[in-house]
Amino acid sequence: MAGNSSGPHGRRWWRSPAGRVLAGVATVAATAAVLVTAPGANAAAGTLGAAAAQSGRYFGTAIAGGRLGNSAYTTIAAREFNMVTAENEMKPDATEPNQNQFNFSAGDQIYNWAISHGSRVRGHTLAWHGQQPGWMQRMNGSALRSAMINHIQKVMAHYQGKLAYWDVVNEAFNEDGSRRSSNLQGTGNDWIEVAFRTARAAAPSVKLCYNDYNIDNWNYGKTQGVYRMIQDFKSRGVPIDCVGLQAHFTGGSSVPSNFQTTISSFAALGVDVALTEVDVTNSSTSQYTALTQACMNVARCAGITVWGVRDSDSWRSNENPLLFDGNGNKKAAYNSVLNALNVGGPTTTPTTPTGPTTSTTPTTPTTTTTPGGGSCTATLSAGQSWSDRYNLNVSVSGSSTWTVTMNVPSPARISATWNVNATWPSSQVLVAKPNGSGDNWGVTIQHNGNRSWPSVSCSAS
Ligand code: G3I
Repeated sequence: MAGNSSGPHGRRWWRSPAGRVLAGVATVAATAAVLVTAPGANAAAGTLGAAAAQSGRYFGTAIAGGRLGNSAYTTIAAREFNMVTAENEMKPDATEPNQNQFNFSAGDQIYNWAISHGSRVRGHTLAWHGQQPGWMQRMNGSALRSAMINHIQKVMAHYQGKLAYWDVVNEAFNEDGSRRSSNLQGTGNDWIEVAFRTARAAAPSVKLCYNDYNIDNWNYGKTQGVYRMIQDFKSRGVPIDCVGLQAHFTGGSSVPSNFQTTISSFAALGVDVALTEVDVTNSSTSQYTALTQACMNVARCAGITVWGVRDSDSWRSNENPLLFDGNGNKKAAYNSVLNALNVGGPTTTPTTPTGPTTSTTPTTPTTTTTPGGGSCTATLSAGQSWSDRYNLNVSVSGSSTWTVTMNVPSPARISATWNVNATWPSSQVLVAKPNGSGDNWGVTIQHNGNRSWPSVSCSAS
C-alpha cells in the first residue's frame, strides 16, 4: 500500500540539490520519511541510454520515420535510446520541398515519437550540399545565400525550444582540409559563419553544431581543417557550441588510435563533442569499446548516437554495423558498449548548477491505503546537475513490490532512467517498478526552466 512523502512525525523534509533542507507543514500520517540522504554508488544500468545518463551523457539512434510502424523496431528504440536524430526527415529536401513552402509532417512525426518516449532530439541538418530539394540544387549566388538564410530561420522557428542540438552545417570540407566545392561554397567562403550567425539569432537556446565524417584521426587533413575553422570561429565570436564526429567506421575505415586525442582537442576549443552517426563494420567489439571509452574519457563528450537500430535498418546493412541484429537481438558489441558506459568516466562538463530553489517545496503527498497493508517509501536525493537537466537518485524502502509514481512539473520532462523498469505515460509522469537491480535507481529530468523537484508517491502491492 501506500504513499509516502511525509517526513518523520508528519513533518515533511526536503533537501535541495544545493543541500538546503526545507521543512514543510505536517500533512499526513501514514508512512515514513521521504527525501534526503546521500546517493549510493550507481549499480550497472541495463540500457544504453540509462547507462550513459549516469555520467550525464546520452545514447542515441537515428530513427527512420518509415519504420515507426514496426513494433520490433520501436520497442528497441524506445527502450534503449534517449536521443533521437531523424535519419532523413529534417533535411532540406524534406522540410522545404518547394521554395518557401515548408513541410514538417515527417520531422514532427519523429519528434513527437521521441519526446513521447522520454528522448531528446538532435536536428539534422540545415545547410548541406546533399539532400537539397531540386529548386535549391539549381540555385546559386545571392539567391541561394538568401534561400539558405530563410531555410534556417523558418525551420528553426518551427522547432524553437524543442531540440537539444542542431547540425547547422554538414560535411563542408574536403579530405585535405580545404572547403568542399558546392553551390553553398560558391556563395562565398563566409557561408558557414553566416549559417551559424543566422541560427543563433533564430533560436538562442539550442546548441549549434558543425557535423562531418572522416574527422576522427587527429593527424588527418580534414580533421585539421575543421579544427582550424572552429578555432577561428571561437576566436572571432562566431556562435558555435559543438562539433559532431559522424564516426562512420564502415566502408573501409576504422577507429584510429588517436581518436580520444581528436575528441579532447576539439573539446579544448570550448565546444561540446558528440559522436553523431556511429557504425562499425561487422560491429567489431574492440572498436565499439574503444570509441565508447574515448567519449567517456573526455568530460566534454556529450553523447553517442548510432546510425540506426538494427543491422537491417542501416544505410550500410551489408556490413552489419549496428548493435542489434536484424531480428532485434543484442549483439556482442551491445554488451561492450553497455559495459564501457557503465564503467563511467568524467561527467560531462556541467555549467550552471541546477536544481530546485528555495521557493520550490515539494507538493503535498498523496497517501493511499491498500488492503494488503504493505508500505514503501521513496527517498529522493540530488545527483549530478547540468545547465539543462539534473539527475535525482531514488531509494525505495519497505515493500519489495513497489510502484513509484513521479509527477514532474511542466515544462520539465523526464529524459532517462536507470536501474528501474519505467514507463512514461507522458513526459511529465513516470511510473517505475523494480527491474531486478535493487531498490536504488535514478532519473534524469530536463528542467526546461522549471527546477522544482517532482512529487513522488510510492505504493506497494
Ligand atoms: O524514400 C525514398 C523512396 O520513396 C524511394 O523509393 C527510394 C528510391 O531510391 O529512395 C528513398 O529515399 C532514400 C532515403 O535514404 C530514404 O531511404 C534516398 O534515395 C537515399 O538517398 C537516402 O539515403 C540517406 C542518405 O543519408 C542520403 O544522403 C540515408 O538514408 C541516410 O542514412 C544518410 O545519412 C547520412 C547523413 O545524413 C549524413 N552523414 C552520412 C550519412 C550516411 O550517408
